[in-house]
Amino acid sequence: MTSRPVNIKATLDSFSDLWSPRIVAQFNDYDVRVAKFHGEYIWHAHHDTDELFIVISGRLVIHLREADAERSVTLEQGDTYVVPRGTEHKPVADDEAHILMVEPTGTLTVGDTHEEVPDYVDATTGHRVV
Ligand code: NI
Repeated sequence: MTSRPVNIKATLDSFSDLWSPRIVAQFNDYDVRVAKFHGEYIWHAHHDTDELFIVISGRLVIHLREADAERSVTLEQGDTYVVPRGTEHKPVADDEAHILMVEPTGTLTVGDTHEEVPDYVDATTGHRVV
């Protein structure tokens, strides 16, 4: 990573891929990633890590499966939410939403267990900003 500042808005303006996070910063063993969400993601779970979501713009619904019951949380611009490790979750954005995520470097976007990955989902550990 470079030591220059990385601007979040400029990074978001630099790509249009959906569900394809860009790494804007790394600290300790964590990534700060920004992504564009639109439509339905897949159900997945990260076995070993919590996942922090911060909504930069738009609205994000995160469906959750907890103890065999389903519920959802709706995040508006400026909201934060942590999906606990091991919890199955499915992000959905009816309109394009810009999301910042914080998670350990190397965390796969589709988690450790997941539904079949459709073509529009980029299964990645994040792309470095060039
Ligand atoms: Ni996740």
